[in-house]
Amino acid sequence: MNHAHENKPPAPSALKKWGPRLLGALAAIFVGIQFVPVEAMENPASQPPLPEPPEVVAVLKRACYDCHSHEVRWPWYSRIAPVSWLVARDVVEGRKGINFSEWPDDEDDRAFNREQTWDSIESGDMPLWFYLPVHPEANLTEADKALLKKWSETEVEEEEEEDEEAEPAKPGEAPKGDQGKAADDEEEEDEE
Ligand code: HEC
Repeated sequence: MNHAHENKPPAPSALKKWGPRLLGALAAIFVGIQFVPVEAMENPASQPPLPEPPEVVAVLKRACYDCHSHEVRWPWYSRIAPVSWLVARDVVEGRKGINFSEWPDDEDDRAFNREQTWDSIESGDMPLWFYLPVHPEANLTEADKALLKKWSETEVEEEEEEDEEAEPAKPGEAPKGDQGKAADDEEEEDEE
């Protein structure tokens, strides 16, 4: 048989030779990308409260506000590229999709937003799946979902009293009052 190769010293492995250089290059890239400017890493100064029932707002804050509001919590790792790019993109795209800090004044638009909110949850699209392992508090319980479902079915007449923006009352919209208390009996309060 051929024994010639047994006498040769082992070839220096490519990893040994190139490993340190590769690591150095990666480190340089990592440092370098930190200087790439990122869009929308701050919250806008205006953070108006969402004019919806407080128990609903509490659930949305837990599960949705990190991408759909002006009250995004920015954890330390969200400031480090390339994670920062992904987070910034989610917030920019998320705020475009729906923004709980820019709630419309029009009651029909609000009703539409409520429906969209529930639809996105019912379909399982929201909260985005990769967000949940890092933010277990965003997992919605059955009670949370029941609450939001009911809220999404709120009749438009229900929120007449909440025009805090000094908006002139819309002409031709007499309050009806027969549905007013429909959403008040929630099945259970969540005690988280
Ligand atoms: C990790 C970020 C993130 C979280 C958390 C999140 N969303 Fe989203 N959401 C997005 C992004 C990004 C989009 C836009 C792209 C898309 O539609 O997937 C979006 C889109 C939407 C839309 C618009 C869908 C459409 O058809 O235009 C709605 C409504 C929505 N989200 C509701 C919610 C609700 C309700 C929650 C909480 C239960 C939530 N999202 C949590 C990132 C997020």
